[in-house]
Amino acid sequence: MISLTIFLCALTPALCCDWLRHYNHYSNVTLTLLRQMGGQLTEDENPVPFPFTLYTHVRHQQVDSQLIFIRDSLSRISDLYDHYDRSSVSWDTVMTHHFRVNLHRLKEELSTCMLTKKHLNRPLRRYYRKLLRTLIRTGGSIASWELIRKDTELHLHQLQLLVASIINSAANRRRSTLGQY
Ligand SMILES: *[C@@H]1O[C@H](CO)[C@@H](O)[C@H](O)[C@H]1NC(C)=O
Repeated sequence: MISLTIFLCALTPALCCDWLRHYNHYSNVTLTLLRQMGGQLTEDENPVPFPFTLYTHVRHQQVDSQLIFIRDSLSRISDLYDHYDRSSVSWDTVMTHHFRVNLHRLKEELSTCMLTKKHLNRPLRRYYRKLLRTLIRTGGSIASWELIRKDTELHLHQLQLLVASIINSAANRRRSTLGQY
C-alpha cells in the first residue's frame, strides 16, 4: 500500500494524503451514528430535490475539484446540524453529538489533504442554501429535520462513491503506467 501512496503523491499532491484511503471507513462510522441517533429514516420526498446531477458532473472533473466538492459538501452538511435549532427532534443526544464530531472530523481530515483554499461549486452552495431555508421556514420542524437526516445519508453515500472512484482511477493509472515498462 505504501507504493500506491507514493504513486498517488506523484500523480497529484492532493493524493499524498494517506488519509483518503481511510475516508470510507470513517464515513461508515458516521453513517452508522446517523442511522442510530434517530428512528427509522423517513421515506418522504424532500421538496428540495437531491442534487444527483451535481454528483454526475463532479465525476468528470479534476481530482482537486472533486476534493473541494467533497470538503464543501461535508462542511455544508455540518453547518446545518451545527447552526440550526434541533430542539424539535428527539434524537439520541449522545449519538447525535458523536455523529457531529465524526462529520466534522471527516471534513477536517480531508482539508489537510488539500493545498487549495478555493471553493468552486456554486450550484452546490445554492443547493445547501435551499436546504437551510426550508429548515428556517418550518422553524426546524421534526419533518424537515428528518428529511435532512435522510438526505444526509444519501450524501455521505454519494461522497463515498466519489472517494472510491478517485482512489480507483489513481490505481488504474498506476497500473497502466507500470505496464509501459
Ligand atoms: C462501508 O460500508 C459498506 C456497506 O455497509 C461496505 O460495503 C464497505 O465495505 C464499508 N467500507 C469500509 C471501508 O469500511
